[in-house]
Amino acid sequence: MANEQAHVFFKSGDPAVAPILMLHGTGGDEEDLSKIASYLSPSSPQLGIRGHLIENGQTRYFNHTEDGGFDLESLDSETDWLLEAIDTYSEQYHLNQEKMIVVGYSNGANVAAYAWLAKHPLFKKSVLFHPMVLTQVTTLPDLSNVSLWASHGAQDPIVSKTNFDELMQTLDTAHADISIFEHEQSHNINEPELVSAKAWVTAHLN
Ligand code: MLT
Repeated sequence: MANEQAHVFFKSGDPAVAPILMLHGTGGDEEDLSKIASYLSPSSPQLGIRGHLIENGQTRYFNHTEDGGFDLESLDSETDWLLEAIDTYSEQYHLNQEKMIVVGYSNGANVAAYAWLAKHPLFKKSVLFHPMVLTQVTTLPDLSNVSLWASHGAQDPIVSKTNFDELMQTLDTAHADISIFEHEQSHNINEPELVSAKAWVTAHLN
């Protein structure tokens, strides 16, 4: 099985409430976003899956190439790996993927956005903290049943405003429903950002 070595965190919650899937940033782990997820939706069951690649000692959901670009083959196969792992553990913990809200930060947000553009994941909602474009998608999917909240920091050295806007534009062109939060800081998640994300999650729990 492709995902037999997945590192997984599960916290039970109210089975009637949308489950949260947590995808960490570079160097993170499956439990990293649990406190944030508990703040966003206190009664949601939580599933965290660790990216199973290690690059320069840091966990990730896909590799870079040697020249520092994104390795698109790794991105493709690792996204498949992740979606398979989500299937496996959703089944194991009785989580409804149609109702699932993905909470991703940085590398984890990037793989979630890529999944929507290039694969057909069952999840339909997400909170994407500081995502970016990884590659151009030639044929856009129809994302009219997808809703997402995404954030960007004006001083972010990793994600330029142009890059963030391009991702939002692409998702918008694919007819996703988008809410954007911008702060004047960097790649960090700040308090007003969490308050905004919580309001969005509260409105999208059903
Ligand atoms: C990525 O590699 O996905 C982005 O550069 C963000 C990050 O550093 O995790």
